[in-house]
Amino acid sequence: MKTNVVSIDMGSVNTGIYQLGYGVVLFEPSVVALTTDRKKPKAVGVEAKKLIGMTADANSVVFPIIEGGVDNEKAATMMAENFLNKITLKRLSLRPNVVLSVPCGIEADEINKYKRVLNGAGVYSIDFVESPILTAIGLGIPISESSPCFIIDVGGGATNIAAVSLDGVIAGVNVNMGGRNIDAMIINHIEDYFSLKIGTLTAERMKVQIGSLVDNDVTRTTINGRDTVTGKPRSVSVSAQDILLPVQAFFDKVFEIAGMVMAKLPAEVSAEIRKTGVYFAGGTSKILGLDNYFRDRMAMKANVSEDPEMATVIGGGIVAGDPELLKKIRIPRK
Ligand SMILES: Nc1ncnc2c1ncn2[C@@H]1O[C@H](COP(=O)(O)OP(=O)(O)OP(=O)(O)O)[C@@H](O)[C@H]1O
Ligand SMILES: [Mg+2]
Repeated sequence: MKTNVVSIDMGSVNTGIYQLGYGVVLFEPSVVALTTDRKKPKAVGVEAKKLIGMTADANSVVFPIIEGGVDNEKAATMMAENFLNKITLKRLSLRPNVVLSVPCGIEADEINKYKRVLNGAGVYSIDFVESPILTAIGLGIPISESSPCFIIDVGGGATNIAAVSLDGVIAGVNVNMGGRNIDAMIINHIEDYFSLKIGTLTAERMKVQIGSLVDNDVTRTTINGRDTVTGKPRSVSVSAQDILLPVQAFFDKVFEIAGMVMAKLPAEVSAEIRKTGVYFAGGTSKILGLDNYFRDRMAMKANVSEDPEMATVIGGGIVAGDPELLKKIRIPRK
């Protein structure tokens, strides 16, 4: 089996790499900490994430991918090169052929940015595939030309909502909202209700530990922040109920957009999807109670999975190992 073939999913929050013959060989935060002259990476991935909020220059820790697109080409190149080197040292002798997942409906100039980033990291053979198709394959959904499915991939910076089949995306959008927006909404909400200013890492931890769409969920955690009146540090015990409003508001918006995409589908596709229900992916779909909340609001079944943030990169890996399938679903090369 060719082992210099990989799939890469460079997300706004996490990057995954799948190597043919091995499986997922890397999954790290999409973060780069830069040296003061910004010429070199001081740390990348897990190590860089530890530096968030800890450096004197707050702008020296960057997220190169924002809202699912390349925001900082230089940092994205450093990140891709670092991650590829990590697995190259272990297993790759040559620069790999890459299947890269890109947001649904991506424009040509955005594809060119990804191309420059990977070329800069020493990769010259790249196939681009719209992510919802890979997500569906990675989730193990038996799609074909005649059996479509509906994917809602709620990531950190973006949400890809699409009906796909092996013919491609039937209807879909990439919306610039993800788990990061929930974090920001939680920060505002806690400030309004508890007069407490918290940081983004605290907000994210709260969301992951106690965030829930279950009514009357009373799971609690303690958070530390700064009192907005006295300016002093203060701890508060909060429950899932205390952040229910921002969490619900976020998902209500996602469902509203999903409804708009569904309304555009041909009748047959629509009927098929009503039967199978929607499939969730992306780290943000791990929020407790999402399946029931979706069913109650949308009168449709929701399928959630265990490792939803890995689905896209795994799908990319499966496709990378099947050249015929890849040819069928990739974005045509110019
Ligand atoms: N248990 C959990 N509950 C809620 N959210 C979670 C949980 N675990 C992780 N997340 C959130 O999932 C998000 C990351 O998901 P994912 O790895 O799918 O994003 P990404 O692919 O990097 O981003 P994007 O696809 O938007 O570019 C983060 O915002 C993180 O806080
Ligand atoms: Mg993603």
